[in-house]
Amino acid sequence: MTEEEAQKRIEALRESLHHHNHRYHVLDDPEISDTEYDRLLRQLQKLENQFPELLTPDSPTQRIGAKPLGAFESVAHAVPMLSLDNAFNFDELRDFDARVKRLLGIETEIDYVVEPKIDGVAVELVYENGLFIQGSTRGDGFVGENTTLNLRTIRSMPIRLRSSELAVPTRLDVRGEVYFTKAGFIQLNKEREKFGEPTYANPRNTAAGSLRQLDSNITARRPLLLFVHSFGQSEGFEFSSHLQALQTFAKWGFPVNEHISVCQGIENVLTACKKIISLRDQLPYEIDGAVVKVNSLALQVRAGTRTRSPRWAMALKFEAKQAMTQIVDIKTQVGRTGALTPVATMIPIKIEGVEISRATLHNQDEIDRKDVRIGDWVVIQRAGDVIPEVVKSIASRRDGSEKKFQIPASCPVCDSRVVREEGDAVHRCQNVSCPAQLKEGIRHFAAKGAMDIEGLGDKLVSQLVDTGLVANVADFYTLTLEQLAGLERMAKKSAQNILNALEASKSVGLGRFVFALGIRHVGEHIARVLAQEFGSLDGIRHATMEQLLATHEIGLGVAESVFLFFREDHNLKTVDRLLQSGLNIQAGTRPTDSRFARKTFVFTGALKLFTRDEAERKVMALGARAVSSVSRKTDFVVVGENAGSKARKAEELGVTILSEAEFQELL
Ligand code: IVH
Repeated sequence: MTEEEAQKRIEALRESLHHHNHRYHVLDDPEISDTEYDRLLRQLQKLENQFPELLTPDSPTQRIGAKPLGAFESVAHAVPMLSLDNAFNFDELRDFDARVKRLLGIETEIDYVVEPKIDGVAVELVYENGLFIQGSTRGDGFVGENTTLNLRTIRSMPIRLRSSELAVPTRLDVRGEVYFTKAGFIQLNKEREKFGEPTYANPRNTAAGSLRQLDSNITARRPLLLFVHSFGQSEGFEFSSHLQALQTFAKWGFPVNEHISVCQGIENVLTACKKIISLRDQLPYEIDGAVVKVNSLALQVRAGTRTRSPRWAMALKFEAKQAMTQIVDIKTQVGRTGALTPVATMIPIKIEGVEISRATLHNQDEIDRKDVRIGDWVVIQRAGDVIPEVVKSIASRRDGSEKKFQIPASCPVCDSRVVREEGDAVHRCQNVSCPAQLKEGIRHFAAKGAMDIEGLGDKLVSQLVDTGLVANVADFYTLTLEQLAGLERMAKKSAQNILNALEASKSVGLGRFVFALGIRHVGEHIARVLAQEFGSLDGIRHATMEQLLATHEIGLGVAESVFLFFREDHNLKTVDRLLQSGLNIQAGTRPTDSRFARKTFVFTGALKLFTRDEAERKVMALGARAVSSVSRKTDFVVVGENAGSKARKAEELGVTILSEAEFQELL
């Protein structure tokens, strides 16, 4: 390549990197995957190494991040928050070790600390004399945003350092990552979905967004967590090694990751990295690599830093979970609850060695929010066992031939009406006998906790549906011995057992029957609540929206779905047929025992004598309510082992607390 060609290429790369930097750091809305960004940055680095005269101070290789957003006050970091250099394979880690040794003039093996690289948002927390006084995001590495109030809401972050074992430093700037657990993130999205709000695409960006809320009440409601992994300025306390610093942080009360090890020599480092790689999918939070750091702080100082990154540390980046490809078509799938899910079929690509050709688009809001069209280039993400999803479309790659997609107005399988209820992000087929919903619905009906029909497992349900013997849950009760015995691999005796089990299931409590119907949002607990409140199937069936909404614990979503369920012809016919086949539904009990009537119970911690469900059933049978959160209106909190925040809250509010033994006595 001539210098002139290199100059052109360098300029193009810089422009592109500046653009992507801005999208990532300022807008929190990247257009390309991290891997692709790293690839561009490395191309530029390589060219700049080849043509050092073309290196300029404003090159993206010379910068750490991007300018802050501007909504928060700026805070200068006393010591810049550097980034990490990336290695993409073990050979590059070996090169790193060789460089460190050369730099330090050491021939013996070096001690390294190996840590998981948490895929979160970098923050700095400043403590003076043990008190948290300020917190900020990393920003461009020199100046971040003052997010003290938001950071304060993170419960695992100490507001005051514990000082029972050790003195506290006069000043400490501790650094770490704020992150969501995988489960916390899924839960957050579920809640958003329930309230009809668009769901979030990835935990890291959502953690960043959560820290940038102008109202810290919103941040407080997000299940954010923290790991600390390094420090900037420190006064009044001497650390000897990185590991000792981390151990000291833990003593002061900071959350420090548990999968951290010290390794002598690079080959041991590689073994530790492999261990972390193997843990990746099991960990409850996202990691995107391993970080290798020289353990001795004295050696770190000797090795020194570059503009962007220290010479004594290196990140081993894992294979990307994201990749880009093109959408060929979008199809609509129908699930058990009738939810219509748009699914993209794509030109196959590999992520982490797994070929992917389909990805979920979640719902219409997500399609609209991401503006995903048929023919679009998109970023796909795969995380563990989760279904791959379309993260975003890349509008800049369109050629005009792309087509918008709209979820159909009638079910693609049974052609019934599709409804999207207010406040719900999902379109649903309203036909409870829709073949696509059928198998799952039938399985649910027969399952434990519902009609509990013994012997009616997944296999038999599939057989019954595939042979056309059961097309509706009411068909169960018209099955004959001949029909059952005629099924493949079904002996006459087993067929008779099934008939007996079906007969036995006819005697059922109202709550279980309502649960068995598979009404959306109506789980076991809510089904019991309905049974207790309305006392009979007719009562529930004819309940008005007002009556439903007046019921304790029943919100708009549940009320609407119960109301609509009993306004759909297919459903009413099914219920009537079930009743005609001789079902004996035992009514819900009305409040009787004065010690329990209308009292509210919360069960928390691990109970030994009952399962949570059993305990709830018992108190409800006596006319009490079982709810999940403690408030002033709660009458009793029953605490099992390791009870946590609910027990504390009960104490604060002066609610009566019962041990399990005391509860049993009361019963
Ligand atoms: S040490 C100078 N340790 O990764 C080194 N960073 O890509 C300071 N990160 O900015 C960072 N896990 O926000 C370190 N165990 C870990 C980390 C970690 C995640 C983040 C950190 C850093 C970024 C670099």
